Amino acid sequence: MQPKIRTRLTHLLGIQHPILCGGLMHLSDANYVAAVVNAGAMGFISALTFPDPKQLGDEIQKCRDLAGDKPFGVNLYISPRQDANDRLEKLLTVVRDEKVVVVETAGGNPGPIIPFMKEAGIKVIHKVPAVRFALSAERAGVDAVSLVGAECGGHPGYMMVGSMVQAADGPQKLSVPVILGGGIGHGSQLTAALAMGCEGVLMGTRMLVSSELQAHQNYKKRVIEGTGLDSIVVQKKLNNHHRVLDNQTAQAVLALENKGAENYEDYAHLLNGDLSKEAYASGNTDQGLLDYGQSACFANAIEPVRAIVTQFMQEAFDAKERLSELRTEYSE
Ligand SMILES: Cc1cc2nc3c(=O)[nH]c(=O)nc-3n(C[C@H](O)[C@H](O)[C@H](O)COP(=O)(O)O)c2cc1C
Repeated sequence: MQPKIRTRLTHLLGIQHPILCGGLMHLSDANYVAAVVNAGAMGFISALTFPDPKQLGDEIQKCRDLAGDKPFGVNLYISPRQDANDRLEKLLTVVRDEKVVVVETAGGNPGPIIPFMKEAGIKVIHKVPAVRFALSAERAGVDAVSLVGAECGGHPGYMMVGSMVQAADGPQKLSVPVILGGGIGHGSQLTAALAMGCEGVLMGTRMLVSSELQAHQNYKKRVIEGTGLDSIVVQKKLNNHHRVLDNQTAQAVLALENKGAENYEDYAHLLNGDLSKEAYASGNTDQGLLDYGQSACFANAIEPVRAIVTQFMQEAFDAKERLSELRTEYSE
């Protein structure tokens, strides 16, 4: 039996391993999330993938059937645009009524919805790209924060702080547990993050090759071929830095940026999420902005989530062992 690493995060969520697998738009559904929690980590159903409240409720129930009594979470993206958050309130009500134990929030300030979640007994982990946002989230009452570095697939924030800096800086300044994300895909990084005071790690890109993920084999093969050097940050002009696979759509966005386009409307046809949704289904990875980060270098085979997590934890223990074998010498 594999030994366990206990941290404040494993206690908070009642999970075996200090690993979060973050919400994945169009991809983190009941099948995938149940596979993650059955492997001893924590997963999050992407609420915006099921924007109709009835659909989200059904997906949560399906996950409960597959995960038995294991807790699982929901990812809620908070838009900076208030009008886009009307839908959020309805989804939040489903999350409460379905008694989901933990929510991963991301995007805008979670402050306004925290009292609602606290009253419902829901734990909140807010995901941010810089310590200063984490401090605001802590003041607003979140239970933990995920700090993601510039290497991450998705939104690294306009400050583009690297994970190594986040890992050492965050735990010194925050009292709530800090989870490190961005470029994580090898277990030795968990050991390093723990050494720097973090309580766990968060993965997205590394998990894109999971067998249980509903995506075309050609898409997963593209991730396997990828090195992570083929990720690119776009939407800088919109101050919405977005790390994605370097494909035709990403290049078209860059070309518009270089021509001086600055408004969302100029890009809207390329940023349309339906393009990405279709790409995951068809395996045509030339189209859509496909969130994808530097940790693709660790994704070398299509495997069940359990195999990925088991190998990751073995790598973490191997790294711990290497550290314990290091000798400290004192000179006179
Ligand atoms: C394909 C994909 C889709 C994602 N979709 C979301 C999302 O809908 N909401 C969210 O909060 N984060 C999303 N993320 C970010 C992840 O949850 C996680 O924070 C990030 O992938 C961690 O960095 P890594 O990719 O270097 O592991 C997505 C990431 C990927 C790779």
